[in-house]
Amino acid sequence: MTIFIGGAWPYANGSLHLGHVASLLPGDILARYYRLTGEEVLYVSGSDCHGTPISIRAEKEGIHPAQVAERYHQEFVECFERLGFSYDLYTRTDDALHHEIVQELFLKLLSQGLLELRQVEQTYCPACSKFLPDRYVEGICPRCGEPARGDQCEACSTVLDPTDLLKRTCKLCGAVPEDRLTEHYYLTLTKLQAELRQYADKAMGWRDNAVHLTQRYLDEGLIDRAATRDLPWGIDVPITGFEGKKIYVWIEAVSGYYSASRKWAELTGGDWRRFWGEDALAYYVHGKDNIPFHSLILPAILMGVGNLHLPDRMVSGEYLTLEGKKISTSRNWAVWVPDVLERYHPDSLRYFLTINAPEKHDGDFSWREFINSHNGELLGAYGNFVNRNLAFIVKSFAGKVPHGMMDSAVRQELTALYEQTGLFIAEATLKQALDHLFAYVRKANKYFDEHKPWITVQDSPEQTNNTLFTCVQIIANLANLLSPFLPFSSEQIFGFLGQTARCLHSKSASCLPLTSAGSFPTPLASPLPGWHYIEIDPGTILHDPKILFERIDPKRIDEELEALAQSII
Ligand code: MF3
Ligand code: ZN
Repeated sequence: MTIFIGGAWPYANGSLHLGHVASLLPGDILARYYRLTGEEVLYVSGSDCHGTPISIRAEKEGIHPAQVAERYHQEFVECFERLGFSYDLYTRTDDALHHEIVQELFLKLLSQGLLELRQVEQTYCPACSKFLPDRYVEGICPRCGEPARGDQCEACSTVLDPTDLLKRTCKLCGAVPEDRLTEHYYLTLTKLQAELRQYADKAMGWRDNAVHLTQRYLDEGLIDRAATRDLPWGIDVPITGFEGKKIYVWIEAVSGYYSASRKWAELTGGDWRRFWGEDALAYYVHGKDNIPFHSLILPAILMGVGNLHLPDRMVSGEYLTLEGKKISTSRNWAVWVPDVLERYHPDSLRYFLTINAPEKHDGDFSWREFINSHNGELLGAYGNFVNRNLAFIVKSFAGKVPHGMMDSAVRQELTALYEQTGLFIAEATLKQALDHLFAYVRKANKYFDEHKPWITVQDSPEQTNNTLFTCVQIIANLANLLSPFLPFSSEQIFGFLGQTARCLHSKSASCLPLTSAGSFPTPLASPLPGWHYIEIDPGTILHDPKILFERIDPKRIDEELEALAQSII
């Protein structure tokens, strides 16, 4: 089996916020876990550089969309790196190979009869003299009566066409738009209804939200969707007479999983087919607003092209709220990644966003919970266990792991942890996996407390040796087990334990240098041995063990809340 993991492609029109991280983080946890189990892993994503959000931003700033995409792509690369995301390739949709491959796919779909040319009326703003991008048509949702944009109604999740909206206005200038005749290709999802139904009915391991929303679309009957757009920025439609028209951003963006795999193969000499053939297990990781694009449009494209592995698992996140309220980038009600990384440890964010993950229902980020969870769980439970043991060894054993006997009950417990946690991770129930491991962290602290090495050290050296030897193995195994979640602290612990570093990539995926294409360097050199029980040798010399996590002053809660309130627009 090989493991393919596709992380959603963030629009390169503004900084990443914690909502993005919450929905994308499961991809990195899966990738790190599967590499440890010894599977071949290909984990790809990239920046979505086309699409209306970028054009609009460029227009506002009076620069070219390519400049906007460039700026945010670079920022994303840096943020993902600092957060420890271990993509095998992080690329971008304005990459030449992506353009080429998407045009190839387009022509293939055309030859399969899945793209049909149609004369259609489209929303045109006479004041702006242009066809309006879907989301720049505003009006009332015909289904639920709430205000909606032309692509989707957020209130009832209905996918809309701008012409469906009632009481339409142009978002750019407020004028009332009209419908004008234009020609476009349509992806004939209607022809694939039966095949997609069969596919969705067989699906296993999709998050509930993905199952429900996909079944709803299928029950309502799929409708053909425009595959081209009247836009200045994007991938050209490779057909004469269509100059100036572009391939619809959703169709080309989801094709990025495939084009990125081909690009990865080109850069590394790896075999992309191994990740798109029958033996692959393919995870797709995204937020819930992306569900139909991954559960219907992408499979439709792959079915049309043929011989390409369809998505197996839909890891579709619910939303992350901020202090109980919906994140709003336009109102600046958000915690921005470049900013938060200036002040907080990436593992604190990874811990919080996993333990409070929006898996089955919306999750909430609050500064109070975040800082308390860092001080309480990460530092108070995990960091404390690591540091009290290592400090004890430094003080009473001159920094050398004592020659003791491993407590066999503990060894069994640790072995079982690998198995159970592995099952949780593979099912992408990551909150459960991390909860399970932290329950063990608390148990480990209890073990230390009950064995009282600070007392036994006075008259039972053998017992003390056994306790500390066992606790060192608990530390090493926790660092190993937690490494998919908390890669930075795991790496640090292995450093304390004197282990040498090795590349975290799967065997097949050679390390990529950081190139202008945005691929990643070796993600975090790490000494991780594999997803199984490990033991540190007695006599091992500890390497300068330090405090794993610094305490965050609780005063910061109010300071952060204040800053957030100040910044709202
Ligand atoms: N750029 C889109 C968004 O942020 C996501 C695209 S995911 C992809 O909603 F797979 F379609 F690329
Ligand atoms: Zn207008």
